[in-house]
Amino acid sequence: MSLNSLASISMVKPDDWHLHIRDGVVLKDVLSHTVKQFARAVIMPNLQPPITTVALAQAYRERIELQLQQLATNQFTPLMTLYLTDNTAATEVQKAKDAGIVGIKLYPAGATTNSDSGVSNLKHCSAVLEAMQKANLPLLIHGETTDPSIDVFDREAVFIDRVLEPLRRDFPELRIVFEHITTLQAAQYVRDAHTANKNILGATITPQHLLMNRNAIFSGGIRPHHYCLPVLKREEHRLALLEVATSGNARFFLGTDSAPHPKGLKENACGCAGCFSAFNALGLYVEAFESLGRLDRLEAFASFYGADFYGLPRNTEIIRLQKQAQLVPTELPLGDTTIVPLRAGESIAWSLT
Ligand code: NCD
Ligand code: ZN
Repeated sequence: MSLNSLASISMVKPDDWHLHIRDGVVLKDVLSHTVKQFARAVIMPNLQPPITTVALAQAYRERIELQLQQLATNQFTPLMTLYLTDNTAATEVQKAKDAGIVGIKLYPAGATTNSDSGVSNLKHCSAVLEAMQKANLPLLIHGETTDPSIDVFDREAVFIDRVLEPLRRDFPELRIVFEHITTLQAAQYVRDAHTANKNILGATITPQHLLMNRNAIFSGGIRPHHYCLPVLKREEHRLALLEVATSGNARFFLGTDSAPHPKGLKENACGCAGCFSAFNALGLYVEAFESLGRLDRLEAFASFYGADFYGLPRNTEIIRLQKQAQLVPTELPLGDTTIVPLRAGESIAWSLT
């Protein structure tokens, strides 16, 4: 990485280790933004119906590849995942590994968008988790308890005590990514965890959780485009995330969690959870690292640590960013409708050249 001057950055092309691109007519529109910035992305399996088998994941990968051809790019690799259910067969694990699937995603049932088929209780999944531990296939976790009596802002912290810690005790060699962490508790848990070996626990962090606190959901009125899950937290949590992301600790890496929903389903009496950050996610991360004067740590967070965790080669292509404000459109095309990107109508300080 070189900080050529204060005004430009050259770095190895990054990867997005947590991304929703959906399916059908919206897939290409969504993907067109990601492929400009990232070489690979871990594709989330929470479609309707969810991607629960290797066969479904392979068919989904083919649909993505078709859209990539239409975008005329062969520079992007989708990394596929499976959606864990109470009924996932342990035999699917080795098949997944052999098919190049990079992880299996745990959605506690009802925790977030399209999670109804998720896991009701991890005790139903012991055989699968055992097989994953043996096959060295990571478990990607949406870490929020679904207990409705727990305050929505506390659900991640409670999940650590009730689910994550017991899970890690039962499966000490299981490789885990704690996805889109949002709290001081999660940042400290991942930073300080004693692990059986080095590369066993990681966490992704989104741009919105590095740049905004929960005031952003309510500034001047209700702001549905700032509502995602896990929900934005207090400032002290944002600062803790920023600290670990920029600390040079290889357990923390980039995952945008860009989660597209049509404008009408966000600006709605019961709006969907998800921020669409793909338009210039990288520019947002640069802003976050710059805010602490730690641009020198950005490349490892964005381009090295995720690849190292997943045991994949680091990218070699170099990209360049300029400190030149980019205006974010108020809406972008999304199939036959539109979507409102994060920062809509405002600008992002850094843009890709
Ligand atoms: C995601 C989605 O829309 O698929 N939404 C979100 O708020 N992050 C699901 C998820 O990752 O929780
Ligand atoms: Zn997500």
